[in-house]
Amino acid sequence: MTTTTPQLREDLLTPRFYTTEIAKAARTDITGQRLAFDALLGEMEADYNRDHFDRRAPLARLKELSGVEKEAYISYLLRSCVSEFSGFLLFKELARRLQQAGRTELGRLFNLMARDEARHAGFLNRALVCEGIQLDLPSLGGQRPITWFPLSWVLYSVYLSEKIGYWRYILIHRHLQAHPQNSFAPLFDFFEPWCQDENRHGDIFNMLLRCWPKLRRGWRGQLLSRFFLWSVFLTHSLTVGERGDFYKLLGMEPAAFDADVIRQTNRTARRAFPMVFDLEGPTYFALRDRLVALHTSIRALGTQPAGLGRLLRRLGLQSQLAAVVLRQLVQPMVASGEAP
Ligand SMILES: [Fe+2]
Ligand SMILES: [Fe+2]
Repeated sequence: MTTTTPQLREDLLTPRFYTTEIAKAARTDITGQRLAFDALLGEMEADYNRDHFDRRAPLARLKELSGVEKEAYISYLLRSCVSEFSGFLLFKELARRLQQAGRTELGRLFNLMARDEARHAGFLNRALVCEGIQLDLPSLGGQRPITWFPLSWVLYSVYLSEKIGYWRYILIHRHLQAHPQNSFAPLFDFFEPWCQDENRHGDIFNMLLRCWPKLRRGWRGQLLSRFFLWSVFLTHSLTVGERGDFYKLLGMEPAAFDADVIRQTNRTARRAFPMVFDLEGPTYFALRDRLVALHTSIRALGTQPAGLGRLLRRLGLQSQLAAVVLRQLVQPMVASGEAP
């Protein structure tokens, strides 16, 4: 089989590589979280999934797909692989620098999370090879720009991306268990224990957030909760909207899957964030439908002939999109203790 190296399309939805204030991370005070820390480190050391990601397991697709379907599947694999690898790079760098700073236990915890993400990325990479795609992950780490985030942002956003990852994998797994005829690749058979890794990583970030109590208090906690729930959900809705063909291929309705993932992640986030969105009313998802439609129209403009008409239409759609996105940002929230 011939293999090709894809060009990753760079836009706001492409997973990014991150780094953070490592010296500050090295000052994490785990005293108040000692019990939780030891329990989580013990779970990570136990390595429940040691034998799960079997390097010999065949990952070739079972079903012939049309060109469009194949593109949707490959795009899903690529995005997932890059995002798992982004987690690996961040955790590995933190592990290395925390160990250098003499924080051996913390470094160990990050090293074990890096181990999991390397397995996940490696597995997705193998599924890509079966599709004739060669992704050189180590050199990708050197090529792509690295975004710097303050530690508070990393704690909030990685917590959420681990928990949203958990819900994505488990909901696909549950759906395919109920509809096994739609499981067109053996990769999906691995999702259940896989999602437990992401769940544990999320629990570790919840514990780390609690090591910095000021980050969860007052206006700062409210602002961070609002901003990261909004941005992670927004990215999810746009990505699912853009890659709807992949979910249809699994027999899922993309908008319903997106809403399920958002509701469950929002509910889970009550355990870590002081506030979460109030998703009881219809407004949040009505705005979501509107912004997915606008995003689709903006993308469709790209296929039309260039000119003043297209430019004006694009500007009009973009300003409508910005207004809807901002309305979503200011939707009501509820204190975590009170959320249903
Ligand atoms: Fe992962
Ligand atoms: Fe993870």
